[in-house]
Amino acid sequence: MKATAKAHTNIALIKYWGKRDESLILPMNSSLSLTLNAFYTETTVTFKPDLSEDKFFLDNELIVGDQFTKVSKFLDLIRNYADVPDLFAEVHSTNAVPTAAGFASSASGFAALAAAASRALDLKLDESTLSRLTRQGSGSACRSVYGGFVEWEKGTQDDGSDSYAVPVAPQDHWDVRVAAVVLSSVMKKVSSREGMKRTVETSPFYSAWVDNIPTDLTQIKEAIQDRDFERMGEIAEANCQKMHATTLAANPPFTYWHDTTLTVMQTVQGLREKGIPAYFTIDAGPNVKVLYQPENEEVVQQTLREIPGVTNVILSRSGQGVTYK
Ligand code: DP6
Repeated sequence: MKATAKAHTNIALIKYWGKRDESLILPMNSSLSLTLNAFYTETTVTFKPDLSEDKFFLDNELIVGDQFTKVSKFLDLIRNYADVPDLFAEVHSTNAVPTAAGFASSASGFAALAAAASRALDLKLDESTLSRLTRQGSGSACRSVYGGFVEWEKGTQDDGSDSYAVPVAPQDHWDVRVAAVVLSSVMKKVSSREGMKRTVETSPFYSAWVDNIPTDLTQIKEAIQDRDFERMGEIAEANCQKMHATTLAANPPFTYWHDTTLTVMQTVQGLREKGIPAYFTIDAGPNVKVLYQPENEEVVQQTLREIPGVTNVILSRSGQGVTYK
C-alpha cells in the first residue's frame, strides 16, 4: 500500500498546444520532448484505510485548494482503475523544480504521482497504460514516463485509448545538453491550461499551427536519428516561435515573453552568428531553455549568465524515465 517513484521533467521540442478534449486531456497535436535529468519530483504514496480523504504534502507543506484538488482528482482515476473508490492516500512529494515558472513541474509531478500510486496499489501497469493515465493529470506529464527523446501520439479515439507517449530514442542515444535560463521566479499570469484554451478558441493562427505539426515531427525525428544537432535545433526553435505566435493572435492577445526573454533569444542567435550552434525553446512562461552540444558548455553558460536580468542558469542532460525505490 506504499510506494515511492521519481520522475523527471521534460522539455518539448515540438510543443503540445491545444486540447480536443479538456476533461480527458486529449491534444489537438502530437508533440515530442527530451526528458531532463536536472529537474525531478520524488513522490511517496501511502494508501491508508483509516483516512476519510486524501492528504497532499509538497516539500513537507500541507497543500490545500486547487493544487490539492488536482492531486485528489487524479487519485480518483487510479482508485477507479483499481476498483477501490473509498481508499484514500497520503502523498508526500519533493520537487527539484522551480514551480510554475515554465519548468513544467506538473510534468514530473503527475508522472511521479501516477507511478507511485499505481505501484502502491500493486496495479502492475505497462508503460503505455501508465502514460495514458498520467496524461489525465497533465498532458505533458505523459511524456515523462520515458527517458531520452519521447513522442506523445495524439491519437484519434474519443476515449483517449490511443493517446499516450512512446519512446523515440533512449537517454544514451545522444548527449544533447539544455541550459535552463531563469529570469524571474514570479508565478506566470496565464497558465498553460488557460492559455492553450484561449488560443484554440480565438486565435486565427491556430489552424496553421496544427497543420504544420506533422512536417515538424517527421523532420525532427530524422534529425534525432541522424544526431544532426543543427537541424534538430532549427526545427525546435521554429516550432517554439510558431506556438508563441498563436498567443499573439488570440483574443484577448497575450504573450509569455518578458523583455529579458527576447534578449536571451537574441543572444542565442548571436552565438550562432559566432559559429556556436545553440538554439532556444520556451514553454508557457518567460524562462528560456537553450539547446547546445557538450563541447560548447562553457561558452554557452558564460554568455547566458552575463545577460542582465538572468538570475540563474541550470545545466541539464538527457534524463531517465520513471524509476521506483
Ligand atoms: C507549453 O501539460 O502543462 O509546456 O495538459 O493542461 O496540464 P495541461 O497542460 P501542460 O501544457 C504544457 C504546454 C507546453 C508545451 C509542452 O510541454 O508540450
